[in-house]
Amino acid sequence: MSQPRDILVTSALPYANGPIHIGHLVEYIQTDIWTRFQKMRGENCWYVCADDAHGTPIMLKARQEGITPEALIARVAEEHRADFAGFRVAFDNYHSTHSDENRHFATLIYERNRDAGHIAKRTIEQAYDPLEQMFLPDRFIKGECPKCGAADQYGDNCEACGASYSPAELKNPRSAVSGAVPEQRTSEHYFFRLADFEPMLKAWTRGGSLQGQVANKLDEWFDAGLQEWDISRDAPYFGFEIPDHPGKFFYVWLDAPIGYMASFQHLCDSAKGQAAGLDFDHYWAPDSSAEVYHFIGKDIIYFHALFWPAMLHGAGFRTPTAVFAHGFLTVDGQKMSKSRGTFIKARTYLDHLNPEYLRYYFAAKLSAGVDDIDLSLDDFQARVNSDLVGKVVNIASRTAGFISKRFDGRLAAELPDRPLFETFVAANGPIAEAFEAREYSRAVREIMTLADRANQYIDEQAPWVVAKQEGREAELQAICTQGLNLFRLLIGWLKPILPGTAEAAEQFLQIEPLTWDALATPLLDQEIAKFKPLMTRIEPAQIQAMLEASKEDLAASSAH
Ligand code: MSP
Ligand code: ZN
Repeated sequence: MSQPRDILVTSALPYANGPIHIGHLVEYIQTDIWTRFQKMRGENCWYVCADDAHGTPIMLKARQEGITPEALIARVAEEHRADFAGFRVAFDNYHSTHSDENRHFATLIYERNRDAGHIAKRTIEQAYDPLEQMFLPDRFIKGECPKCGAADQYGDNCEACGASYSPAELKNPRSAVSGAVPEQRTSEHYFFRLADFEPMLKAWTRGGSLQGQVANKLDEWFDAGLQEWDISRDAPYFGFEIPDHPGKFFYVWLDAPIGYMASFQHLCDSAKGQAAGLDFDHYWAPDSSAEVYHFIGKDIIYFHALFWPAMLHGAGFRTPTAVFAHGFLTVDGQKMSKSRGTFIKARTYLDHLNPEYLRYYFAAKLSAGVDDIDLSLDDFQARVNSDLVGKVVNIASRTAGFISKRFDGRLAAELPDRPLFETFVAANGPIAEAFEAREYSRAVREIMTLADRANQYIDEQAPWVVAKQEGREAELQAICTQGLNLFRLLIGWLKPILPGTAEAAEQFLQIEPLTWDALATPLLDQEIAKFKPLMTRIEPAQIQAMLEASKEDLAASSAH
């Protein structure tokens, strides 16, 4: 057998000022399925994430609530952890960008780039709130759209007519923080000289680290020319002060991706990391043989495919093996909407529905591209009920009862249709390839085709008929053993997608946690437990209740 691969995987770090919603979950579920698959294959795969805790919105939200930013991010971190656990997103470590490890690496990466000449200093003019005595990010300036005149529009684009513009063009601009008329003031800022890295970035882009559509996007950005990136912000700011520039802070997006490293360092230092002998440098040194993958949404490609590899390279670290971007979630063909009740928080979903349903539905829709994916609520219900309850779980419920009642829970010593079992086992390879390539929808299609085949076998063999006939005991036991072995394979393949259901099935079959290698060996001549239904159907009322509750969430949040 070949050496296991060393793989470090991340999902983008969610902002610490709001709840996890089902849009976010596309990404965390996509990543979690991939890491669970790798672990099931026996690879050394580590999945880390963290809260993205810095920046102006978090500072202002804490101020609004009358608490410190530290108290806000501590509370939100607890909520995020609980939501992820609820959806069985199994990070090996969940940390925060507001951490000692992150301060260390942010400082180190900044200083190394500075010493290599990649940081420039310039004076810029920016909107300033004289009442709050702070510079205003674009989205904290409101005014009338310069194009269509719509009131109350944000500083960079108009929601009414779609125009984009600079905040200086807004008519009657006001600070969204205090209502004051913003002034223009100058301040010294620090810039990362991205263009220094153009040759390296072009090579990296063409080296197979990016999806085709993403590489094309990068070519457009190269053609447009790589601009210097403003990495500093003035006080007051919630973040890390730049070491040699008191009163200046690292922009949140400077230290956010560094949070991947910080979380990994924190894992290396933990009991779990120590027990596994995890070594930070093995994963991050320039000549590292380990693989590093970042799963992200398509909105943050610029940061991950340009700034991040450049910063790493400039500081003498390895660059990511690949960045995997996904599309955005729509619900019933439209953007998630608070008024329609389709802006569904992770917690609201969990109050009404089994997380395994959503994991399955997303998997059935996800491929390796950056296309948006749609959660059609009718299709969601139909698909889960027909595929999971109607096909997969049904195989066990049609056969397990006979094994318990007639054979003391004992499986037959041999399979009656070994060739059929081997046909299933032959799908191991193609299904694994689909998971590896993040073509989950293809994996699900293959699995469901075989689930149909398994049901067909049971229909043909009709164990309920055999059960009524005398002298066919051995045959009945054999048919049910065959059915349960096909079920076991289906559940094994679905395990990265349905970890909760797989765990319940492992208890029912009384087997060790399934690994990919174990699948090829049939389960024979052993006792299994009494069958309990592994999953129930989705009722329309549950979906309705979730949508209603999402509208109520809205009422509650606009009330204060
Ligand atoms: N904090 C940054 C990421 C920093 S990574 C160094 C951020 N946070 S976020 O909370 O806005 O988004 C976290 C991830 O969820 C991003 O990859 C984003 O693309 C993804 N999604 C947020 N809303 C989404 C949908 N509606 N649909 C699919 N993914 C979405 O960006
Ligand atoms: Zn407009």
